[in-house]
Amino acid sequence: MSTSSSTAAERDFKREFLKIVIILFGVLLICFSIFFLKHQENSKYIIETLELNGSAEEGDALFKINCVGCHGITARGLVGPDLHSITQRLNDKEIIKQVTGGLTPPMPSFEIDPENMSNLLKYLHSLE
Ligand code: HEC
Repeated sequence: MSTSSSTAAERDFKREFLKIVIILFGVLLICFSIFFLKHQENSKYIIETLELNGSAEEGDALFKINCVGCHGITARGLVGPDLHSITQRLNDKEIIKQVTGGLTPPMPSFEIDPENMSNLLKYLHSLE
């Protein structure tokens, strides 16, 4: 009698355990898909940006609106670092991630369309 009830408990436990494993697996799968889709989206944005040939003047104007507060009117640095020769230290992809990623507070993440991102890149290249 006692053996059969413990086997039933065991079976219950196994069933619960299996349920939890399946749920965890599902959650993991969802997280992974979101990560994957986000990654795809980011790569698409980067590829689109790099295919464009922006204008340094437009980029300069954008810089004056969005970046001078921290990087200075001539990009010589203020709160944020000097951006002259930045294009020798970081490649375009890294700069795009820096500007859109928001990974280094207090610098915010910027939502910039590929055209304007390309303009900004062109401007940063013109600072060399
Ligand atoms: C609120 C202030 C702030 C604003 C606005 C800002 N930045 Fe920054 N930026 C920073 C700071 C601070 C860093 C240094 C982050 C670190 O490395 O920890 C930085 C770093 C960078 C870097 C990397 C520099 C390096 O030496 O690695 C680039 C490129 C850059 N910013 C570009 C821009 C551009 C382009 C804009 C405008 C679209 C902008 N930033 C707007 C504060 C700002």
